[in-house]
Amino acid sequence: SREFHVVVLGAGGVGKSCITAQFVHNEWIESYDPTIEDSYRTQVSVDGRQVILEILDTAGTEQFVAMRDLYMKSGQGFLLVFSITSKSSLQELVGLREEIIRIKDDVDIPIVIVGNKADLEDQRQVDRAKAFSVSQRWNAPYYETSARTRSNVDECFTDLCRQLLRR
Ligand code: GTP
Ligand code: MG
Repeated sequence: SREFHVVVLGAGGVGKSCITAQFVHNEWIESYDPTIEDSYRTQVSVDGRQVILEILDTAGTEQFVAMRDLYMKSGQGFLLVFSITSKSSLQELVGLREEIIRIKDDVDIPIVIVGNKADLEDQRQVDRAKAFSVSQRWNAPYYETSARTRSNVDECFTDLCRQLLRR
């Protein structure tokens, strides 16, 4: 089976840790405990192929940004997460994506754009169409997830695995 290094990036509080915890452990975390760095190892089956994912859940908080270059160098695929309840969190992905492309020196690096907190529709600040057009410009798929309901959580990781398997 093949092994891939996946990095989960995005602004603080958008739900990176909750998405990862749902994907790896099927658990919902209500409390907010800002991450410094956590890694998970998990095995998944994608189209009948066994894939081992080494998932790095990173810090969105500014004080830890110096570690980003290191994350990005080691990553082979990236989940770029924002919250549909925060316009600025989508804006933060612009710089992150540019940095990934610069560090990996690869415009075709596997990326999935994730608009999380889709269960908070009444607090939505980012239109689905707007986020989708950004993802199309970046030539990356777009998923709206809810770490709370587990909606689309498996789908975004599976999509990233498919991109990685195609390389
Ligand atoms: P940093 O580690 O600081 O970068 O934050 P993070 O992106 O890992 O956010 P985290 O997963 O810790 O979630 C932050 C808060 O948002 C927590 O209180 C979660 O319970 C909440 N949250 C995360 N995902 C969702 C979601 O899909 N829906 C709702 N309603 N709340 C969510
Ligand atoms: Mg976190």
